[in-house]
Parts: sequence; structure tokens; C-alpha cells
Amino acid sequence: MNSERYSALIVPPIGPWPRFDPPLRLGVMASGTGSNFEALHDATACGDLSAQLCLLVVNKADCGARQRAAHLGIRCELRDHRHFTSREALDQDLVHTFQDEGVEAIVMAGWMRIVTPVLIDAFPGRLINIHPSLLPSFRGMDAIGQCLTSGAAIAGCTVHEVQKDVDTGPILAQAAVPVLPGDDKEKLTRRIQAQEHRLLPWATALAGQRWRKAASTQG
Ligand code: GAR
Repeated sequence: MNSERYSALIVPPIGPWPRFDPPLRLGVMASGTGSNFEALHDATACGDLSAQLCLLVVNKADCGARQRAAHLGIRCELRDHRHFTSREALDQDLVHTFQDEGVEAIVMAGWMRIVTPVLIDAFPGRLINIHPSLLPSFRGMDAIGQCLTSGAAIAGCTVHEVQKDVDTGPILAQAAVPVLPGDDKEKLTRRIQAQEHRLLPWATALAGQRWRKAASTQG
């Protein structure tokens, strides 16, 4: 099988996109190159994802996500985790930052820090994460390396609600791709990330329906 001759499986399948009035007010957290952050931006810019990206928080001064935010004109704040005395202290700062911004939910788009109940409980069911494996397989660090080592024939990515235990929590959506002969980490990462960029905006929209439904029943 060559890499052009497969179609990724996304569940639930994409579309039609729900509309939100007013658009979702989202915070985003990122540590890496920011390709998933940019995918969220692109999905809002083309009108698929009915949302406003209010604020990006990064924990690394030189990360690509920060550069992308500057380029895209999205406000970005740095919270260097090394300047906080504990995970909880960083998360308390994040809670205040995002609450001050009036965001209704937060997307972890490659946030490479463990989060604590301080953040999780401040946004119950409203903190979602993307992870580069088909959870519950390959939780934690180096998920793609774990997948390659295991000999699995199918890889993928998952968007899920964040709970206290790392990479657990209700699954919102998943995308599956094949592991092809000759794959190394770079090739498989590229194939998975291509699907992450489709999955994350879609899963955010699915989560948005839950958030708005919950808000309407709470009056
Ligand atoms: C993504 O592949 C995402 O799934 C992963 O970090 C990458 C960030 O890429 N997240 C995790 O591993 C979280 N456990 P990006 O900075 O290009 O969006």
C-alpha cells in the first residue's frame, strides 16, 4: 500500500458543521510547532468551526505556536512553567488568565505539560486534548514511538475531554491511519498529523454542541 492509496477513517465522520451563535469563545494551549493551533485557526477562518480563538497560551518562548500566533494576529501569552513553584501554581495562573478572557472552553493543541485538577475542575468537561494515538492505546510520552515499537498496524489520533489521569477521559473523536512498511517516526508522525489537523477542529465543534447544550439547560 502506498501512502496515497488509503483514506483515513474519522469517527464520527466530519460534517455538517454545527453553527454557534454567538461563536464559541476558545482558549488554546500549546507547546510545540503549533500546527494544530493553526488548523484550528484555519477552520475558523474558512467558517467551518464557528469559534473565536481568544487567546493562545504557550509555555516555551521559542515555540512555533507563538510565532504562528504573531503571524495570524492572535493574542499569545507566555507562561514559562519553570517560573512556577508547582504544576498547581501554573494551572491557577491559567485559570485566572482564561477566566479573565471570558473563554468558555480550552483546547490543548500540543500542550506538553501534565495538567492538574486546579485547571480541570475550573473548566469541567470544557478542557479537551489531542493525543497522537488511538486511545486507550499508547498513553503518555512518545505515543508514536510506542506505536511503532508495538508492531501495531493501525495508528491514529484522539481528541478527548481531559481528566486527572493522563490521556484518559471521554473520547470525542478519533482518526485512524495505517502504519506502512518502511515507516519511521517522522513518516508516521506526518501521516497522523495530517489527520489531526482535520480531527481537532471537528472534535472541537462536537464538544461545542455539548458545552452549549449544558449551558442552555443550566439556564
Ligand atoms: C501533536 O501531534 C499532538 O497530538 C501532540 O503534540 C503534537 C503537537 O504538534 N500532543 C501530545 O503528544 C500530547 N500528549 P503541533 O505543535 O504541530 O500542533
